[in-house]
Amino acid sequence: MCGIVGYVGQELCAPILVDGLRRLEYRGYDSAGLAVHSSGKIEVRRAVGKLRNLEKALDERPLPGNVGIGHTRWATHGRPSETNAHPHVAGPIAVVHNGIIENHLELRRRLKEAGCTIVSDTDTELVAHLVHAEVERGKDLESAVRAALRELEGAYAIAVLSSKEPDRIVIAKQSSPLVIGLGEDATHCASDIPALLPYTRSMLFLEDGEMAVIEQGGAVVTTLDGKAVEREPRHIDWSPVMAEKAGYKHFMLKEIFEQPRAIEDTLRGRLDRANADIHGHEVGLSEEDAKGIERVLLLACGTSHHAALAGRYYLEALAKVPTSVEIASEFRGRDAVVRPGDLVVAVSQSGETLDTLVAAKEAKAKGAKVLSIVNVIDSAIPRMSDATFYTHAGPEIGVASTKCFSTQLANLLMLAIWLGRRRGTLDAARAGELVEGLAHLPHQMKDVLSGTRQLVANLARRYVEARDVLFLGRGLSFPIALEGALKLKEISYVHAEGYAAGEMKHGPIALIDNKVPVIVLLPKDSHHERSLSNLQEAKAREAIVIGIATEGDEAAREVSDDLVEIPAVAEELAPFLTVLPLQLYSYYVADFKGTDVDQPRNLAKTVTVE
Ligand code: AGP
Repeated sequence: MCGIVGYVGQELCAPILVDGLRRLEYRGYDSAGLAVHSSGKIEVRRAVGKLRNLEKALDERPLPGNVGIGHTRWATHGRPSETNAHPHVAGPIAVVHNGIIENHLELRRRLKEAGCTIVSDTDTELVAHLVHAEVERGKDLESAVRAALRELEGAYAIAVLSSKEPDRIVIAKQSSPLVIGLGEDATHCASDIPALLPYTRSMLFLEDGEMAVIEQGGAVVTTLDGKAVEREPRHIDWSPVMAEKAGYKHFMLKEIFEQPRAIEDTLRGRLDRANADIHGHEVGLSEEDAKGIERVLLLACGTSHHAALAGRYYLEALAKVPTSVEIASEFRGRDAVVRPGDLVVAVSQSGETLDTLVAAKEAKAKGAKVLSIVNVIDSAIPRMSDATFYTHAGPEIGVASTKCFSTQLANLLMLAIWLGRRRGTLDAARAGELVEGLAHLPHQMKDVLSGTRQLVANLARRYVEARDVLFLGRGLSFPIALEGALKLKEISYVHAEGYAAGEMKHGPIALIDNKVPVIVLLPKDSHHERSLSNLQEAKAREAIVIGIATEGDEAAREVSDDLVEIPAVAEELAPFLTVLPLQLYSYYVADFKGTDVDQPRNLAKTVTVE
């Protein structure tokens, strides 16, 4: 899981490539490098660690030239080191690569037998040698790449330079994302849209099994078999500012505060307030399909899995459809039972998470219809799905997912309402309440964010040294408890656990003492009384109790050491509000600890490995 960029134009390319890499650093940041055509040869600069190390190397030894490729790495084959950093060079060839070559052992053995000197532990260097071998046989760069790709099994997005053809880059894609940006006087490529936004909005998305030759005047796309591909570029209306920090200290904080806007965009055009319904054409199901669904199977990883757990409550309560939720990596290869009457819903921010992609493909192969809920347009999961119900959160740069989580909740709730109306399990009055409730959410979220920010920051300051934190919730608050714990773990490195509140007495209660903050989610819902009892149990063991409760809940106020209030909303809507203080809490703990909030250690935004 890495980020790649390429540029062919008239400007000095190194600063443009570095700028693109900075916007892709969320994809990995173990090392970075550039290869640029410079005075008749290819020159390479590489550095271990963050991009600033590469910039330092470029300051010391600048790279002049107008055609080049770049890479930011998240190590898969070989530890982070300068030797393993991309670009990898073999003879006149330089390659950057995102993905994993599955048959790398076999290729390495063959190349060594043929006398190749392989200097790195990476699978990517092997690609450079394969292309080099084809060039040695007399092929031009495009044909050499095409021939080399036939040898590869696995996932790749690659960009290749040859010192013999200094006016072009050859790129190719299989399973990893790759976008071409068509500028006025330049052509770019990158793993993701934000890297291209400052330069162009006109973008061409490569499909699996396609390659392209990019030159200053544009791109020629073909299949790996050499057939011409005609595809219109798409206009992407994300502004570059949307992809930048907009004055916030971190992308994560900006994205937390963007949630009201993200929800508004996600709801836009989908709420049918006049008919207490949802405009559901994007879900790709007929009225008959909706009635005939026998089971919904939700597949996802990480935060998206927590949204899916909330989705199960929505689908069972509103559409009365039996629903199961699977961690995608556990579903894969298990030979799980999937029937043609099943609707599989793959939930993913990136649309590229390999576990979710493969799990959805497995389910599809068994006859299920696949609907995806994804944020990144035209990514791998939407492309294999029968239909995609996009979230419109905009680019999410912080590794810790926030705004994409709440927009996933919105789409899952809309899906449940739409199905419930068609299946006759949700009457107009109840649907109307929920549709109206959704419409009011953006301003309620705004109020909760501005109203609780300081209080939550103070709590984070007070408990910043806590070594363990528990999050408890029942019903729809259980996935929110899991999400609160995941957020705290991933960015502040504090041990945190999310539990179903009723499960605490079966074990985790032993963890509680007067040093453990216990954050209890207890909005006024059908579980409220029992959650309150759980809170009291924690309090009786001297826990520090922080309640997240509905305004005016005096019982919660009485037992909590600290109370964060949210407005009264329907049970189904409370997660959109209760998750906000949890996101803020993890953000401030991490910020006070001084961790790298947007790029926490060991993590990457998009996980395209198993
Ligand atoms: C979220 O904060 C995490 N970084 C991670 O769990 C993420 O949700 C997971 O990797 C799934 O990603 P996806 O939504 O892009 O599929």
